[in-house]
Amino acid sequence: MKRQTVRFTINGEARELAVYPNDLLLNVLRDQESLTGTKYGCGIGECGACTVQVDGAPTLSCLKLAVSVDGCKVVTIEGLAKGNQLDPVQEAFLDNSAVQCGFCTPGMVMMGRALLDEKPRPTEQEVRDHMRGSLCRCTGYASIVRAIMVAGEKAELS
Ligand code: FES
Ligand code: FES
Repeated sequence: MKRQTVRFTINGEARELAVYPNDLLLNVLRDQESLTGTKYGCGIGECGACTVQVDGAPTLSCLKLAVSVDGCKVVTIEGLAKGNQLDPVQEAFLDNSAVQCGFCTPGMVMMGRALLDEKPRPTEQEVRDHMRGSLCRCTGYASIVRAIMVAGEKAELS
């Protein structure tokens, strides 16, 4: 199998990578780009741990071929903070004890960010509906839902 050249941006930086046609975006991010914040959970689209943004849309990178993001803007958890300033969703996860082992957290934060970009003040039910594809084995979800709602409230007040 021959490699193909794919050009896209990752966290604002232009990249040109040689990938195999069957390389998954998740593996390219982790293994070629060392962006290990994006987690390999189930590998079959069931857990949400591998969520990144592709052209602003939350995307399961374990189900996305790397060749399919040619020309796209990819944002990973490493790209959310602005310098030393964490994204409000990241801050709210810390402030609301929404992190335990942390394995699900990058995917949760990326999903939460996508929701708030679309709907800055979601209801609790809207948060739960939006996050239902993201699994956490530790927190019981209440703190994660609270963190996303707090992030939305704070953004509205600022
Ligand atoms: S690793 Fe992609 S959804 Fe679980
Ligand atoms: S904090 Fe451990 S899986 Fe969510």
